[in-house]
Amino acid sequence: MARRNKGLASRMTEPSAPPSVLFVCLGNICRSPLAEGIFLHLAAERGIDGMIVDSAGTGGWHAGEGPDRRASAVATTRGVHLPSIARQIERADFERFTHIIAMDASNHENLLSMGAPAERLRLMRSYDPSHSIQSAPDVPDPYYGGDDGFDRVFDMLMAACAGLLDELAANAPER
Ligand code: 4NP
Repeated sequence: MARRNKGLASRMTEPSAPPSVLFVCLGNICRSPLAEGIFLHLAAERGIDGMIVDSAGTGGWHAGEGPDRRASAVATTRGVHLPSIARQIERADFERFTHIIAMDASNHENLLSMGAPAERLRLMRSYDPSHSIQSAPDVPDPYYGGDDGFDRVFDMLMAACAGLLDELAANAPER
């Protein structure tokens, strides 16, 4: 759950408004809660705080639930806390976040058709500088697979979250 909810337009007028990041998948119980937790973990390691970070699903079937137990298990093994309670994305999110990040091409397409602003919408793996987004655009949905799928997704998300933090740091205004 995002902790600060001031509108994007008003925040953008502040001299040092921090970026705000929304990770989006289908159910908001596997990939995007992992992305949210990993991003917060890596940001804390870098001494970065005060960013608005949240996750949501394009679907609402799991609203109110914590992460899938397999996502929680891999996160615990890797020392990452997952604060997410699932929710469905809403139109206000398109105003609230500077970075809206889709886990796969299907989520990306759905977000565009819901009205997400294309200039603030990107695929998660596009932030991983070691990855070819053309050959494999998706963080694959691990929901119907085994535990090993969650391990692979975790590694993909680590690489993409590190790349996202690098990009945010490179674009941060001089203080
Ligand atoms: P997620 O995975 O989009 O990574 O959270 C899924 C979770 C639930 C369902 C599909 C994908 N589902 O069909 O309920």
